[in-house]
Amino acid sequence: MQAPKSVGLNRLGGPEVVMAGDSEAVSLIAGVPFFQDLNEKTRKAVVEEGKETSYASGDVILGEKGLGVGFYLVLDGKVEVRKSGKVLATLNKGEFFGEMSVIDGQPRSADVVAIAQTRCWVLPSWSFAGLIKAHPEVAIPMLKELVKRLRTAQSSPAS
Ligand code: CMP
Repeated sequence: MQAPKSVGLNRLGGPEVVMAGDSEAVSLIAGVPFFQDLNEKTRKAVVEEGKETSYASGDVILGEKGLGVGFYLVLDGKVEVRKSGKVLATLNKGEFFGEMSVIDGQPRSADVVAIAQTRCWVLPSWSFAGLIKAHPEVAIPMLKELVKRLRTAQSSPAS
């Protein structure tokens, strides 16, 4: 497997980040199943708490054992979840990752690498906790997806 490149940097040397309060991000996120049960006003307020980030193919979005400070939603593109050189999952537009560390405070369980030009919306962990408390209905599609991933992992356990 090709070694992942480091995360893309902007001209100031920081990660490529833009604020997600614009109407494009709001309408993109409106189309994501994860947020389907929120009304428009709430969705807009939630979107404004996050940031949109861009990655080139090969960028490591988050690394195994790193600190979990954000929850990620794929707005566009494709990422791979990798552990010990094995691909655990490929996630596309509308799918999420990074929830595990944000929920339990433990280090990241796997690497997540962009395998195409990818845009994500990132919600800081403190905002994620507030979102779940204020709008527990958001947790339902997330729990369903977590159970699906657990069943998949059980049917093909790591060797
Ligand atoms: P976290 O542990 O915070 O960071 C790595 C992320 O990879 C993890 O959260 C999940 O979102 C994701 N992940 C880990 N294992 C799997 C899996 N088996 N299938 C899909 N996604 C996974």
